[in-house]
Amino acid sequence: MSDSLTTEEMDQLVEAARQAVGKAYAPYSGFAVGAAALARDGRIFTGCNVENVSYGLTICAERTALVKAVSEGSQDIRAVAIYADTEQYCSPCGACRQVIAEFGSNITVIQANKHGKYLANSIEELLPGGFHAGMLGKGTI
Ligand code: THU
Repeated sequence: MSDSLTTEEMDQLVEAARQAVGKAYAPYSGFAVGAAALARDGRIFTGCNVENVSYGLTICAERTALVKAVSEGSQDIRAVAIYADTEQYCSPCGACRQVIAEFGSNITVIQANKHGKYLANSIEELLPGGFHAGMLGKGTI
């Protein structure tokens, strides 16, 4: 099933991710990231990276946004935007790809840079052959 976002929807989601970057807690890396998850009910949940002195406990912006969406009752995710104030697009890490894929194989992932340019892919393109619920014999999502 194709479920492309309109340019307006993408722009709005990227702008929400751009605003969330200001909330980042990144005293160790100095690399601030913002994210925004769009649920199928139209709600947008923002997130930022939250680092920890025990580095491995750091939570990426994408996972913050998704945990907020789910904990507020929105599990049906259409898209996730990721923004960093850099030239390069901020590519989601492997852990975040797996967590995005948890909520649907048709999710659009948008990577945005500081010039407002972006790149959109489906999560299936970003995580081909990933581990999924069907492998546990619990059906597919
Ligand atoms: N980070 C994210 O929040 N999202 C990404 O997609 C890549 C990396 C964060 C984790 C850490 O706080 C900082 O960026 C540097 O790795």
